[in-house]
Amino acid sequence: MELETVSLGATGTRVSELAFGTWRFGHENDDGEVEIGEERAHELLDAYADAGGNFIDTADMYGDGDSERFIGNWLADRDREDFVVASKIYWPTRPDDPNGRGLSRKHLRRQVDRILDRLGTDYLDLLYVHRWDDDTPADEFMRTLDGFVRDGKVNYLGTSTLEPNAWKVVKANEMEYEPFRLAQPRYNLVNREVEPNYLPMCDDYDVGVVPWSPLAGGFLTGKYSRDEEPPAGSRGATDQQFRDSYLTDENFDVLETVEAVADEVGASTAQVSLAWLLEHDAVTAPIVGARTVDQLEENLEATRIELSDEQFARLTDAKSV
Ligand SMILES: NC(=O)c1ccc[n+]([C@@H]2O[C@H](COP(=O)([O-])OP(=O)(O)OC[C@H]3O[C@@H](n4cnc5c(N)ncnc54)[C@H](OP(=O)(O)O)[C@@H]3O)[C@@H](O)[C@H]2O)c1
Repeated sequence: MELETVSLGATGTRVSELAFGTWRFGHENDDGEVEIGEERAHELLDAYADAGGNFIDTADMYGDGDSERFIGNWLADRDREDFVVASKIYWPTRPDDPNGRGLSRKHLRRQVDRILDRLGTDYLDLLYVHRWDDDTPADEFMRTLDGFVRDGKVNYLGTSTLEPNAWKVVKANEMEYEPFRLAQPRYNLVNREVEPNYLPMCDDYDVGVVPWSPLAGGFLTGKYSRDEEPPAGSRGATDQQFRDSYLTDENFDVLETVEAVADEVGASTAQVSLAWLLEHDAVTAPIVGARTVDQLEENLEATRIELSDEQFARLTDAKSV
């Protein structure tokens, strides 16, 4: 199969219609086990690239830098120009250092150089602020980020997870600096908090939307059931926060509609959940995650699914927003 490309929001760069997320590379779960080590990480990246994927999402804190290191080692055997690489800065990277976090000029400058070093590249295609920093004046971080673009260290800026504070993006984008051209909110069939304000803001300001957790961390694959323990090895089995936020009666009600549509189109629930985002007018490219190559291959096949208008509307209406 060959993924198609789309415009990266209102920029001149083309990215594959599904991005690949590397949050779980080097990530230690609640049991202290590394979820995806370097060998598997490279197999996953190979599978994604073999399918025509070019849009890789990471962050400075994923696996405490290991996600970027694994990607950098993998890119060393590839042509870096074939890929659009995004990373993020905000979360603490030096626990005892009061300046080892956030969007201060000091932390941003330190982190961008560390990111480039780990990835083995001299520029990032896209740098997101992982969260807004209320302790740093917006003028300070927007001016610093603007400098990265002017210096050629970064091509585009993005912002992540600011719903419901759409006004913060507006405030930043109305300054005289390089604006946020992409937004990365959580968005999937059960997490719809961006719909009332955030997505209309993105539309109005030409900010592309790159949703994270498009499968609700695996909930929308249908492998969880109301009355059974999460399957061994799944995120639900190893992550209390996931269980608390996703394994709810309200979400299982939505899942019933997804399963019904999946039966109708002869696809998996994961594929239908992704197809809903792929067909969504507001969405640029969802960032799909996967722990195994089989999961990734199943997810990439979602690009072949076509939903009817009625099926799309039924999925949209499965949760009242
Ligand atoms: N900006 C932010 O704040 C933020 C936050 C979170 C994520 N992200 C980005 O978004 C990316 C995706 O997030 P996510 O991992 O939560 O995405 P997701 O696609 O919603 O969930 C991925 C997880 O679901 C399970 N899964 C995926 N496909 C499956 C399949 N076909 N069958 C069965 N299980 C399947 C796997 O977990 P198990 O097999 O372990 O259950 C996999 O790790 C991240 O890697 C990261 O790049 C950004």
